[in-house]
Parts: sequence; structure tokens; C-alpha cells
Amino acid sequence: MTHNPVRADFVPKEDYICRDFARREKERLWTRVWQVACREQELPKVGDYITYDICDQSIIVVRSGPETISAYYNVCTHRGRRLTEGCGHATRFHCNYHGWRWNLDGSVQRILDEKDWAGCDNVSHDDFRLVDIKVDTWGGFVFINLDPDCEPLAAFLDPMPGYIDPFELDKAKFRWSYSVRVPCNWKVALEAFDEGYHVAATHPQLLDGFGEDYTWSKAMGKHGMFGYDKSTCPPGAPAPRLNRPIPDDLRPGLVRYIHLINNTLHAITTEKDAAAASRLLTECDASAGPAEVLSKLLAFQEQAAKAAGAHWPALTMEQRIAAGTDWHVFPNLIFLPTGTGTLCYRSRPWGDGTDPDWCVYDIWSLEHYAPGAEPPVAHNVIHSEDGWKAIGGVSEILEQDFLNMEQVQRGMKQAGFVGNRTNPVQEVAISNMHRVLHDYVD
Ligand code: FES
Ligand SMILES: [Fe+2]
Repeated sequence: MTHNPVRADFVPKEDYICRDFARREKERLWTRVWQVACREQELPKVGDYITYDICDQSIIVVRSGPETISAYYNVCTHRGRRLTEGCGHATRFHCNYHGWRWNLDGSVQRILDEKDWAGCDNVSHDDFRLVDIKVDTWGGFVFINLDPDCEPLAAFLDPMPGYIDPFELDKAKFRWSYSVRVPCNWKVALEAFDEGYHVAATHPQLLDGFGEDYTWSKAMGKHGMFGYDKSTCPPGAPAPRLNRPIPDDLRPGLVRYIHLINNTLHAITTEKDAAAASRLLTECDASAGPAEVLSKLLAFQEQAAKAAGAHWPALTMEQRIAAGTDWHVFPNLIFLPTGTGTLCYRSRPWGDGTDPDWCVYDIWSLEHYAPGAEPPVAHNVIHSEDGWKAIGGVSEILEQDFLNMEQVQRGMKQAGFVGNRTNPVQEVAISNMHRVLHDYVD
């Protein structure tokens, strides 16, 4: 296949709609790249396991020791039966076909009639053990990589952790979680959250109180990010494109915006944050400038977190500004970190990975809770064909994003469309993603 190369202002449409491209991703991307399998929170006790499926590969991720997480192909080494599915707790893994068993560390526990292999000098227990997969953790995420010769996770993630480690995401726990099947390519869904350029048209209700909504966007190694420079138009003021003056009193706009996010996204801003923001109206002067309003807001949020016994990362203002708003970790993780609530998205091809028109989209709202005060992990998995519409019942803001996805996938098939005219300033993270993607698949 030949088509136009990726540029800062162009991404070929074949990346999203061609079966051949999906097949190349399946063979050359997903088999060689670090990807999030789960959160460490899902594996609290030795023996807790989850299965993570990517294309037609299935991986068991298990807490094999108090400080150890292991990953194996989800297959019996005897005659290839899939071992398990979903998640659960195990003291050992067992194959239902002929009853072979393995310890949590993947070593053989039992092979029925093992003496039958006594005459074979070219097989040993090493050949019968579960096949190990590379696994590592960062920020409370458990990553796997199917390539035994892959680069270390830390080198792959660089330079992102330098910006995000201060948020202490490893201590954040699930507030809620949805997994839906969406009628679009996995990258179409992901990229709906990889830029802020769409906010004015897709989420116009957010502009009042948003402050500056013009974004900067940067490549960060294999990864990317975007953020806002609010120094000219502060939070609490109407976005400049509304052509309204910056009010002397920033508090009402800011408080309204924070409550809007909490009530219609249920993520990033927490209930604690929203209640803390309301204190601005009575405990901050109406004439306070942007820096004072913001520092009071953060002080009230910190007090609310600590009063609840919840962890509060000690972030400096410089660290908050440098971290921007939204990160893309190649290939398929997006997160929007804050000191209290972090929203994460994970996108994957649906099924065996050869159909470019469907994906599985996981949305994880994380929050810092008092130890033990977090709700039980409940993944709402809705993989019916129209299950993605359920997101409308969860979040009005996300519903607006999801309504774009299906229409983009349909639109890109039009013969008159050659590719994305990505914004070379505000969508750098997207074009960078495709540049890196081609390094894998070409
Ligand atoms: S296929 Fe698993 S024990 Fe035979
Ligand atoms: Fe959006």
C-alpha cells in the first residue's frame, strides 16, 4: 500500500479505514509495544488475576507474589486450550481439558501421567511452563509487552514520567469504569481526547468560565500532550472566542465551571473539589486577581482532601503548569491528570484486530480516596453494538465526544476525503502519534 506520508498537517485516511493497515498494526504494533493491561488496584492480593485481550492475543496478568506481578499467554502448553477469562482469584492455574496445572509463578505444578514423557529427551518442565510476557508498572498502571526483546518500560515512557510522577497516580483508585464498543477505528476514538481544538464546537457549554481555550500541543518522545496558557485569559473568564470582557470578579464563572464538570463529566473534578470551590464565593474577595483565586481554590481543595483523609499530592504550581492538561501515551492511553481526579481512556481494536471499523473503549475515572474508602472496582462492560450510546447516561460531555466518532468513521470512507488536515499547532500530538505508528508498521 502506498499513500501520502504523515505530515504535521496531514494524516492519510488509510490509517483509519483500511483492513490492510489494521492487519499491519496487529502484526507489528500490538505485538511489540508497551500497553496498559490493568491497574494495580485490580490485583491487591496474591492470586488475583485479570485477562487482557488485544487482537487475538489473550494475556493473564496475575499477582504472583506480594511484590510481584507476572503475565503469561492465556494458553495451556499441552494442546492449546485457553485457560481462563475475565478476572478472579486463583491459587493455581488449571486447564480443564486434561488437567494440567501451574503455580502462580508459571511453573508446572502437575502434568497428568507425566511419566509418559520420560522417554523424550528434548522436552523439560521449562517447555511446559506458562509462557512469560514482559510486565512492568508505572503510576499504578500495569503494562505488558508481547515482545520479549522490548526496550524497558521506563525508557519507552520517557519523558512523560518526569512530568506526571508528582501527581502520584499510583495512589489513585477507581471512581467508576466503563468499557464500550464503538463503531470507529481505535485511533478515531482515542484522538477525540488528544486535542482541545474541538472543545469550542463540540462542548460549547464549557466556554463560559473556561478562560483561554486556545491550546498548545507537543510531541514528547513517542508520546504527546496538550495544554492551555491561561496567563492572558484566566479560569473563571469567558473564553476569548465568546468576545466578552474578562470580569472583575472571576469567582462565579470558575465555581459554575467546576460544578458543571463535576455534574456532567463525573471525572477530573471530584465532589470534594466542587464543594471546596463553592467556598470561593464566601471566603475569597470578589476583587481577587487570578493568582489569588487559583491559590485559594487549591488551598480549599487540599483542605477538603485532607479532611476526608484522602491523599493530596504536593504539586508545585510549576509542576502543574508543565504537566499541561492531557497526555497521550503511545499507542493507546490518554489521561488528564489533576491533584484529585484523573480521567483515563484506553482504546483497542475490537475482536481479532482485522476490522478497522470497531474498537473497544475503556474509560476510567480515578480519584484519590482515604485508604480503604474507595468504592469496589466495578467495570461496566457494555460490548453490544449500540452499547456505546450508554455513555450518554454517564456523562453529557462524553456523549458529545462519542457522537463525533461514528460520524468520523463514516465520513472518512467518502471518496472525496483523502486524509485528516490536522491542525499543525493544536493537533501536534495527533500527527506525532501517526508518525510513531508508522515507525512500527512500515
Ligand atoms: S489442553 Fe490443557 S491439559 Fe490438555
Ligand atoms: Fe471532548
